[in-house]
Amino acid sequence: MSHKWIYRPVVEGLASRQAHADLPAGHVERELGKEGFFGPSTQMIHPRPPTGWTNWEGPLRPRAFDLAKLGASPSPWDAAAILHNADVRLRWWICERSMTELARNADGDELLFVHAGTAELFCDYGHLTIAAGDYVVLPRGTMWRIEVGAPVALLLIEATNAHYALPDKGLVGEHAIFDPAMLDYPRLDGAFRAQAAQGAEWKVRIKRRQQISTVTYPYNPLDAVGWHGTLLAVRINVRDIRPLMSHRYHLPPSAHTTFVSQRFVVCTFVPRPFESDPGAIKVPFFHNNDDFDEVIFYHAGDFFSRDNIHPGMLTLHPCGFTHGPHPKALGKMLQQSKPATDEYAVMIDARDALDVAPAAESVEWSDYHRSWQVQP
Ligand SMILES: [Fe+2]
Repeated sequence: MSHKWIYRPVVEGLASRQAHADLPAGHVERELGKEGFFGPSTQMIHPRPPTGWTNWEGPLRPRAFDLAKLGASPSPWDAAAILHNADVRLRWWICERSMTELARNADGDELLFVHAGTAELFCDYGHLTIAAGDYVVLPRGTMWRIEVGAPVALLLIEATNAHYALPDKGLVGEHAIFDPAMLDYPRLDGAFRAQAAQGAEWKVRIKRRQQISTVTYPYNPLDAVGWHGTLLAVRINVRDIRPLMSHRYHLPPSAHTTFVSQRFVVCTFVPRPFESDPGAIKVPFFHNNDDFDEVIFYHAGDFFSRDNIHPGMLTLHPCGFTHGPHPKALGKMLQQSKPATDEYAVMIDARDALDVAPAAESVEWSDYHRSWQVQP
């Protein structure tokens, strides 16, 4: 049933008329909001950053994990579980050797994000060379394997019992951010035909309900000679993303949505110029994650709103506390020392609480929540 929000527009005390711009001098803004950045929201003006805590107790806290410290495993089904809930499952896979068996995920669509390395991907639909910065969407049930060129580090993002789709691009039209024509797809090329003829016996390891079953074929089942349809594996590289920006207004992370699923979204932060209007804020505003658990995987570059974060790290900002730029980043914004951001990062915003798996805890930076504290 559709509904109307119970709230009404109000201005109380000292506030700017335009959200995220023309803040009262020496003040910061904290956004409280429903439905991510789409629902009713309030921009609250504070005289000091709302992250100036001096003590923190209890299980809720912002967390950071250095995935680069985790070891390799032979197949995606042996990869380290990182975070999960009923709708999304994140795994981290360092693949050093070519897969000798096929994988098939019967639990949901799989999104591969290639953090490092190069490989040849062979799947039902054909052959695709993959490299750092690639997102590859594999529809649920796709059989696939990779032949490693340079050791590959992959973030696997499973849309459990669901699929991936593109966001509604609304006012800016379907060719913005990336043109759907930029989506590459696997081909039934010479490399594919050559591999189809390889091997006397192939095993397919199928994941269903987080359990693995193995089916053996006396031939290579990646042997299609043709196909026709609207369902296929697709690839887009983060360097082909042309971000939305406004020189006068800091756009919320939702402007960078790349894929949507049923109860989570995937956004991509790529380099873009800073806002040039003197009244526009230039770093993410402080905000509560009132309806989402927010995950960011840091892929490459210099993470302008975070101190002490390097490529290969992943942070979890669960619902229930306020976060925003780290103190040094806030200082850099005030100095305007850089004309543009230089970061590539993948954000996963999940509607329901995420559980942290033991492998992630084994590489946790346990003092991350203190990184906002201003040193006296
Ligand atoms: Fe956030």
